[in-house]
Amino acid sequence: MKILVVGGAGYIGSHVVRELLDTGNNITVFDNFSSGSKTNLFSESNFIKGDILNYSDISKAAAGYNAIIHLAAFKAAGESMIAPEKYSVNNITGTINILNAALENGIKNIVFSSSAAVYGEPEYTPVDEKHPVNPKNYYGFTKLEIERIMTWYDKLKGLRYASLRYFNAAGYDINGRIMSLEKNPANLIPIVMETAAGKRKELQIFGGDYDTPDGTCIRDYIHVNDLAVGHRLALDYIIKQDKSITVNLGSETGLSVLEIIETARKITGKKINANIVKRREGDPATLVSSAKKALEILEWKSTYSDASTLITTSWNVYRRQK
Ligand code: UFG
Repeated sequence: MKILVVGGAGYIGSHVVRELLDTGNNITVFDNFSSGSKTNLFSESNFIKGDILNYSDISKAAAGYNAIIHLAAFKAAGESMIAPEKYSVNNITGTINILNAALENGIKNIVFSSSAAVYGEPEYTPVDEKHPVNPKNYYGFTKLEIERIMTWYDKLKGLRYASLRYFNAAGYDINGRIMSLEKNPANLIPIVMETAAGKRKELQIFGGDYDTPDGTCIRDYIHVNDLAVGHRLALDYIIKQDKSITVNLGSETGLSVLEIIETARKITGKKINANIVKRREGDPATLVSSAKKALEILEWKSTYSDASTLITTSWNVYRRQK
C-alpha cells in the first residue's frame, strides 16, 4: 500500500514507518523536522520536507496515496496550558489541512494519533472508550476537537478514520534500529534515562502522597513497537471494514513513578537521584487503559510494554549519549 506518514521522522512516527516498511508497504515520510530528525529516516522510504501549516505543501504531497497516517503534533500537556495558541494552530489547523488535502486527493483512509488525554481525570479505571471525554489540558482538547471533526467528515464525505488514543508512549525499537533522541523530552522515562546517563544530577518525583500503594502516580506505559503494530492493524481494519474506529492503545498495566525509577536503577546499574517534590498540576493519580476493544476488533495487544523492556530499550539509546 502507498502510505503518506505525516510526522514520520518523529519519535513515534519513525517506529510506525519501520513497522510499515517491514510489512511491505511503500512509504513516504512528510515532516518539517520541528521535533523529528533526519537520522530517523530510513533509506527504503521516500521523504518530502514540508509543513502541514502550508496547505499547498500537504495537498501536493498527498497526491497518489491510498492512506495517510498523521502523527505530526505538539504533545506537551503542560506547555499547552501556557501556549494554547501554538497548539490550536499546529494541532487543529494543521490537521484540518491534512484532512482537506486527503479529501482533495481522493484519500479516504486516515489514521490519527489521538491521546488518553481526551478522557481527563478518570471517573473509573481501567478507562475504556465509553469513558466520558473531558480533557483537563488544552493538548487533550485539540485531540478531541479533531476526533469530532473526523466524525463529521466521515458522515459528510465518507472519510474513514482510525483514532488511536495512546496512553503513555515509551521505549525504543526492540531491534535497535531507531537511535535518535527526542528533542527536549518532558516525559518521565526520558528524564529518568537522562539522569542515569549523567545529563541531569537528579530528577523530581511530582508528588509522593497520592492514593496509590507507594504514593506516586500510576500510568499505563505502552511500548512504541506495540503502538506501531496498532497503526498497521487499524489501517487494515478501516480499509477492509469501510468503517471508522476510535480505540485505546494501552498495556492495561499500571506502573508507578517509583517502580519505573527502581527498574531503571536495576537495569542501568546507576544510582539515579530522585527527590519527591510537590504534585504537578493536572496529574491524575492513576490512569490505566482497558484495551479490550483493540483486542476484539484489531486482535491487537501489547507485547513489549513490561517495565524491563521499556527501560532496556530506552537505555540502549540513552547510554550512548553524552
Ligand atoms: N513525572 C515525574 N517527574 C518527571 C516527569 C514526570 O514524577 O520529571 C511523573 C508525572 O507526574 C506523572 C508520570 O511521571 O505522574 C508520567 O508523566 P509524563 O509527563 O511522562 O506523562 P503524562 O502521564 O503526564 O502524559 C503522557 C503524555 C501525554 C499523553 C498522556 C496519555 O505526555 O501527551 O501520557 O496517558 F496524553
